[in-house]
Amino acid sequence: MAFQSIAKELSEFERDFAGVLDDRDAAVRFLLQYLAGQHAGRLRPKVLLLTAGMQGGTGPESGRMALLVELLHLASLIHDDVIDNASERRNQQTVNAVWDNKIAVLLGDYLLSKVLGLMQESSLPGLLERVSSTVQQLTSGEITQLSQYNNLDLSESDYIRIVSLKTASLLETSFRLGSLSAGADMVQESAYGSFGQRFGLFFQLKDDLKDYAVTSDGKGIYNDIREGNVTLPVIYTMQSLCMTERADFRHRYLQVGKSEPDLSAIAGTVRQCGALAHACGQLRQMEEELLQDCARFPASPYRDDLEYVIRETGDCGPILKL
Ligand code: FPP
Ligand code: MG
Repeated sequence: MAFQSIAKELSEFERDFAGVLDDRDAAVRFLLQYLAGQHAGRLRPKVLLLTAGMQGGTGPESGRMALLVELLHLASLIHDDVIDNASERRNQQTVNAVWDNKIAVLLGDYLLSKVLGLMQESSLPGLLERVSSTVQQLTSGEITQLSQYNNLDLSESDYIRIVSLKTASLLETSFRLGSLSAGADMVQESAYGSFGQRFGLFFQLKDDLKDYAVTSDGKGIYNDIREGNVTLPVIYTMQSLCMTERADFRHRYLQVGKSEPDLSAIAGTVRQCGALAHACGQLRQMEEELLQDCARFPASPYRDDLEYVIRETGDCGPILKL
């Protein structure tokens, strides 16, 4: 079974996370309990704990850092759903959909204050610097993404720059903090960090592909198309169409207030022109490279579990089947 190597740490994580999602104030507690009821993948705590294991073993700082990255992630998702006007996440309605944007902004801020509390408790050197730089990168990524709204001429390298900031930065930090929590030196931390950055790009590419199929993530489909968030499948579509087809695609994509049939027709073009399959091919190539890089870490059950995460993320089956 997957994640046996960190089973004990994951169950401690769930216990402690439930403890963090509590407050004396009944109104706040009510909101936190809504979050506690979500089915979350815990990807960042998992890779952090696996990295600590590969580095020599998890310790008390590993558990605290696992809570920190999950809280940061959760806060960023709640704010992201406001920005993206999203109504579903993790098979639940989003906070902004159940309540409103005001509550969602404040709840995200509240979770960030919990991150500050964990940083105060920690004795990990350089933590403040790493966390503040990560939050700056997350925010810059979102701002840059918004500045490229509806830009169908977005280049592949600009897409990668956005993803590197908005997603890969926190995954990189999770790998870094995991290694540091197990006593890594600068060279070891940097090796795990650069692996985490590449894993982050890979992970977001898969996330962007999932916009084209209903998956177990419990998020709505075609959200990126609706919100004008140009991702790799659309970039590949623009590259693959001839001039007249491209002009037609641009016209349909830029139409204001796209209906459900409009959205699925746009997604249909992305699929039919081969852009989705091309992006899945890219994902599989990244999977191969990551597995090769992973083989450089010492063999252990932690590494086996990390390989499992990579293989699971690289699986495009449900997306291509439709
Ligand atoms: C999801 O991307 C969003 C992120 C990876 C980052 C969100 C970051 C912020 C809102 C800024 C930082 C905020 C805080 C509170 C630290 P996506 O929209 O492509 O993915 P999705 O499909 O999961 O929504
Ligand atoms: Mg989003």
